[in-house]
Amino acid sequence: MFGENILHDLILKNKKKCQMGTVANYIPGLDRAEKEDLGVCIIKSDNQIFASGNYKQKFTIQSISKPLVLLLAIIDNGEDYVFSKIGMEPTGDAFNSIKKLETCIHHKPFNPMINAGAIAVSSMIKGNNSDEKFERIIKFIEKISENPELEYDHEIYSGEKRTGNRNRSMAYFMKNDNIIEGEVEEALDVYFKQCSILITAMDLARIGLFLSKDGVLSTGERVISERAAKIAKSLMITCGMYDGSGEFAVKVGFPSKSGVGGGILSSVPGKMGIGVYGPALDQKGNSIGGYAILEDISKLMSLSIF
Ligand code: DON
Repeated sequence: MFGENILHDLILKNKKKCQMGTVANYIPGLDRAEKEDLGVCIIKSDNQIFASGNYKQKFTIQSISKPLVLLLAIIDNGEDYVFSKIGMEPTGDAFNSIKKLETCIHHKPFNPMINAGAIAVSSMIKGNNSDEKFERIIKFIEKISENPELEYDHEIYSGEKRTGNRNRSMAYFMKNDNIIEGEVEEALDVYFKQCSILITAMDLARIGLFLSKDGVLSTGERVISERAAKIAKSLMITCGMYDGSGEFAVKVGFPSKSGVGGGILSSVPGKMGIGVYGPALDQKGNSIGGYAILEDISKLMSLSIF
């Protein structure tokens, strides 16, 4: 029987791998994280919870916010509008790559999981100003994580707002091509703030379970359409681990989304949500220990969807 003792062994085994990774430092404040921290939480569809390691440690959600804000953008604007501005194809490039924005014929960002696509998604959230838009985003994430007490890290938010000029350049480029329709700085402000929301591996497991049930909370309440949940999961499996998505699909095999804060959100359709935290990253910006633990869990429980 799979249980917490197995998760505990997996944490000990994979902690060693964290030494081979690097904690992100390009956003001021991210490097405060402990390289060897590693935590995991599984919530199954019968609501059984298994957790071990640093699963209660708070960290910034970063890119894991991307599929979640995409869900809200679909609620706000409909699928057709969102994908008139953003593609659905993997890039094979890094998460912050700029090159395809200009070289591809339509100038649309390739998908909503890379930075360019996610900034365009943030620009579509309804609200009179960036504070209202952000408030709607954090309330939405509170709802689907079933945690009403989320907050954001002010230092990491303002550090990224001050230094995030690569993202800023992509946003202005997209404004020029009418991908972003409103104020560029407002879209960036929303994006930087959503990335700095503090979350735990347990919150991620809860969100993963919500997606695995195609948009239904543990209370039975439906929050998004089944269609929207399927869009998010499809883009997570094809683009969620960036230029590592193909290998991840082979080795782990269920929809997941990583962030440079060290988290990975995973959703095993119909079965469970999994959240992991390990801030030591591989060269593609994915948690090295988190990836390894997901690979082990997938094999032990035969969870690949393929
Ligand atoms: O825009 C950035 O670079 C960060 N706020 C988020 C990037 C990220 O999490 C990439 N994921 N692995």
